Amino acid sequence: MLYMILLLLVILALLRLRRKSGTIGFFHPYCNAGGGGERVLWCAIRTMQKKWPNYHYVVFSGDRDASKEEILMKARQRFGIELEPNNIDFVKLRLRRLVEADLYPRFTMICQTLAGGILALEALWKFNPEIMIDSMGYPLSLPTFKLLGGSRVAAYVHYPTISVDMIDLVERREATYNNKDIIAQSNILSILKLHYYRAFAFIYRLAGKCADAVMVNGSWTLNHISSIWRRSDASVVFPPCDVSTFLAIQQTAEDSLESSKIVKLISIGQIRPEKDHKLQLQVLHDIIKWLQEKRPDTRAQLTIAGGCRNAEDKQRVQQLQARLYSIDYASELGIADNVKWSLNVPYEELLAEFSDSLISIHTMWNEHFGISVVEGMAAGAIMLAHDSGGPQMDIVLSEKGSKQSVGYLAANREEYVHAIRNILGHTRQERDRIRAAARKAVGRFSEEQFDKKWTEAIRKVIDRTA
Ligand SMILES: *[C@@H]1O[C@H](CO)[C@@H](O)[C@H](O)[C@H]1NC(C)=O
Repeated sequence: MLYMILLLLVILALLRLRRKSGTIGFFHPYCNAGGGGERVLWCAIRTMQKKWPNYHYVVFSGDRDASKEEILMKARQRFGIELEPNNIDFVKLRLRRLVEADLYPRFTMICQTLAGGILALEALWKFNPEIMIDSMGYPLSLPTFKLLGGSRVAAYVHYPTISVDMIDLVERREATYNNKDIIAQSNILSILKLHYYRAFAFIYRLAGKCADAVMVNGSWTLNHISSIWRRSDASVVFPPCDVSTFLAIQQTAEDSLESSKIVKLISIGQIRPEKDHKLQLQVLHDIIKWLQEKRPDTRAQLTIAGGCRNAEDKQRVQQLQARLYSIDYASELGIADNVKWSLNVPYEELLAEFSDSLISIHTMWNEHFGISVVEGMAAGAIMLAHDSGGPQMDIVLSEKGSKQSVGYLAANREEYVHAIRNILGHTRQERDRIRAAARKAVGRFSEEQFDKKWTEAIRKVIDRTA
């Protein structure tokens, strides 16, 4: 026993001795996945390479089949992000297989989290940096590097592993996708699950407490992290969106309205039930009826564009099914002729649709963010988004101290119809003012803003040595 403890202490001392000052590690086991999280990673490293060129950057990654050059090339091709190759290295992890969800049909959350801890141990064993940033959400990497390695650690959280909402659901015994019927109905199982969740939340909180700096990707995540980690010092750093492409769009919708008497609405998003295309069709129906009464010379058209990026086959099938459903519904309402389907169209076509759209409509309830809402505003359409989630908390917001509206929020059929009537009731100049303000406001989501906010937040773990 004594020997065991001694051995552990020696290992610990060795780990700490090997800590390399002047290095910053990013724990991002799937760094070559090419998704939104990776865009954040590369943008963050690019910013830091510029700001702190004397540090050396290291990414802990499980992509053993890709070379450094290949990974950097993908970052360039996929996101247009150019990194300084002499100042970045990759530490390849062998145990990434352990964190894959399909290994754990039961107790996935705890198993994956523990596996993340083991993966972090492997990472620490291979390289101990002065500063470690968890950019993928493996909570146990924080105590691993902090307590065992003695690094300073920061976390960028996209999504809380467990939330107070999830615990509440089990407490109230409601059946949902992650709370099965049998559990909701059984007393004992519910109590056990509640204990499991509470214990997990406790571990998650302890891990969160280890972070010297916490960044979150939006207000929704901020609220959850603040309550589950019980810390009030997290900073919101919005992920960088490519707003410039949309800002460059020339608007022609007003001309179409004047010359052809057509009100064009656009809806962007994958065709999934929670996006609530049905509500859009109902609103279109009501607007058409209203126009018939009040402005018989004006027509309305809704373009439904969806699944244009990374359209994967599986999704496409799903979309087509949903599409049939919605077409039926559109004809049932007698508005099938007023609906244009632009599914899986090329990007340029999507941008062209945007330029001719007066109003961009978004109907998903409680979306965590809503990149399509940012894009709609940047494109110069008048945004009409659901009054909940990200659109309400982060996006459709006037700039501080300004009363100028940047768009509309609505929560039900009547409110949507009312908002559209309002928009059509404005003069062109009034609408232009909303457009201009909206295009200015989305600057919050640009790469420049990301750079600024990230630098401000991460400085906390850097300046102590500088
Ligand atoms: C934060 O990340 C989560 C998970 O990827 C995502 O659902 C959400 O939209 C993101 N929020 C922002 C503001 O991008």
